[in-house]
Amino acid sequence: MSDRTPPAGDRANTDYTDHTDRPALAAAAAEVPDLAPWLARRATVRQFDTDAEIPDDEVRAMVDAGRKAPTSGTTQMYSFVWIRDPDRRERIHELCSRGTVQVEEASQFLLVCIDVRRIRLLLEHRDREFRTTPAMGLLEGSIDASLAAMGVMLAAESRGYGVCPIGNILNNLTEVAATADLPAGVLPIFGLCLGVPRHGEATENAPRVPLDTVLHEGGYRDPTAAQLDACYDAMNEMYGDSVYGDDRREWQETLERYWGPNGFMNRREGELLDALRQQGFFAARGIDEPADADTADADSGAPDPDADRNGNGGGAA
Ligand SMILES: Cc1cc2nc3c(=O)[nH]c(=O)nc-3n(C[C@H](O)[C@H](O)[C@H](O)COP(=O)(O)O)c2cc1C
Repeated sequence: MSDRTPPAGDRANTDYTDHTDRPALAAAAAEVPDLAPWLARRATVRQFDTDAEIPDDEVRAMVDAGRKAPTSGTTQMYSFVWIRDPDRRERIHELCSRGTVQVEEASQFLLVCIDVRRIRLLLEHRDREFRTTPAMGLLEGSIDASLAAMGVMLAAESRGYGVCPIGNILNNLTEVAATADLPAGVLPIFGLCLGVPRHGEATENAPRVPLDTVLHEGGYRDPTAAQLDACYDAMNEMYGDSVYGDDRREWQETLERYWGPNGFMNRREGELLDALRQQGFFAARGIDEPADADTADADSGAPDPDADRNGNGGGAA
């Protein structure tokens, strides 16, 4: 293996599709920098230089890098849909409700999508049957797509570009999918703004809860009261003199805004179920056909998840 490894000077030109080049890291661990200190400093960028462009080839190279993320069963259940039409970007910004002007201002905007459609087409191409279910499609596809997207983000940030994931597309997911002309079996899960950070932007990242509340050594334990306080102490640091600005807010309000009974997540739940239905994830017999022809929704032609006799519907997703 080591005699196949190119010298360090050639690494920048690595052809990621060249099978003779793998597994490169095992042979050259010492040449790979320790990313931990760099990860500790990375930050979401929300303000972009609107005059600076990321060239198309750079976008392709960064997505190419993301493709080397691990993928469940080698199946690669994701696609990146590159939204290039300014009108569509404007519409997606509208559908994000508000506060995500970076969708229009970043040089490039991608939709990170679960894609089980390509798997279906691949199977059918070899005369084999495909079957998806909403929960597994959502879970496995989200894992695959997110890991690949993290690779794209790291590639972008390591090149000095700024990145902002956009979860606000979930506010109007069905319309975002329609605006992007996404067919059945393809579901966007977040957007990705890529651009050149605007001059002068603070590149301060948000704090994180303490390590001992996320790393459960030897088995899961609920955090103690002291550990819960330590989480708040850590996270409340972000509201002072920081990019988050507002020194009157406290983290419990942020948590409640997302996960309280009337929070974003609960409000998005119905929209997600609708989008899964619209994009065919409830159709257990194949992504274009209803799960049960007798019980399919008469208006939309989409399957009625609550009536799915295969047990794949309802609140499962
Ligand atoms: C799935 C996902 C969705 C996100 N959606 C948004 C968004 O819609 N708008 C935004 O400004 N930031 C968004 N972010 C960025 C987070 O707000 C950011 O990662 C978090 O505040 C921590 O900040 P840091 O990345 O600078 O440490 C999103 C991040 C993730 C992982």
